[in-house]
Amino acid sequence: MKSTVLRKIVSIVMCFSLLGLAGCVNDKPVDSQPESTSSTTTTTTTTTTTTTTTTTTTTTTTTTTEKSETEASSTTTKPSTTTTTRNPRDEDPNVEKLVALTFDDGPYAPVTDKILDTLAKHGAKATFFVVGDRIDRYQSTVKRASALGCEIASHTWSHKNLTKLTAAQMAEEVNKSVNKIESITGKKVTLVRPPEGGVNDSVKKNVPYPLIMWSVDSMDWKNRNVQKNYNAVMSAVFDGSIILMHDLYPQTADAVAKFVPELMAKGYKFVTVTELMQARGVSMQNGRKYSQARP
Ligand code: NI
Repeated sequence: MKSTVLRKIVSIVMCFSLLGLAGCVNDKPVDSQPESTSSTTTTTTTTTTTTTTTTTTTTTTTTTTEKSETEASSTTTKPSTTTTTRNPRDEDPNVEKLVALTFDDGPYAPVTDKILDTLAKHGAKATFFVVGDRIDRYQSTVKRASALGCEIASHTWSHKNLTKLTAAQMAEEVNKSVNKIESITGKKVTLVRPPEGGVNDSVKKNVPYPLIMWSVDSMDWKNRNVQKNYNAVMSAVFDGSIILMHDLYPQTADAVAKFVPELMAKGYKFVTVTELMQARGVSMQNGRKYSQARP
């Protein structure tokens, strides 16, 4: 009896830990960590009394060894083979490097426009994975981003986790957003980023677009801090990386204003995801995941 209760307590505690790790905060739709993130959860239980001690350790790493186009299409989990993403080349200002800065969950004019100001000032480009049902409110911002040469792509219509939907629901979430974007920008949408990074075999089969993940997670939705956002990007960026941010928070826009000119001075060129893949000779396939394109 006692041990049953204890086990229950432990499993509840573990559930909360895992929820925390998955970024399941209740205030905002956010993207959880990518599959390349390895998390370690350790639970220690003292059985003599009813005391339960829980220790949670999170390690964030990114994988570099795999070129995105060779990613196995059937596996959804795979061990990360390296824990470092950078090499000396990534620091050499004399080497031209490419990076794709991406923003999810917008548009949100008060923040998106500030980001666009920075991009315009430096001749930089980014990719905006917009949520379809937000577009009407911020049409002019979306048009402006597109006119600046930024790529506007789909983050579904209402930010639903696609792994929980039927094929028909998935199609509606994607198609409705794509049609809306195309009607506003007049340009074809060619990429989808699944909300919360949620991809399974059904998503791969039923979403007829390349699925764009990321290799540098700024954790800006959690940080809400300019310096932390800045550090997260500066410490992990590499040639061919795709950076994940969210154009919902003022601290995100401020961090962008800080690191864009600095990275450009280090030899980084800010391009769209499509430009990055083209430059690296990656021919993207529908229903496959891409998180980087190293030279
Ligand atoms: Ni999202």
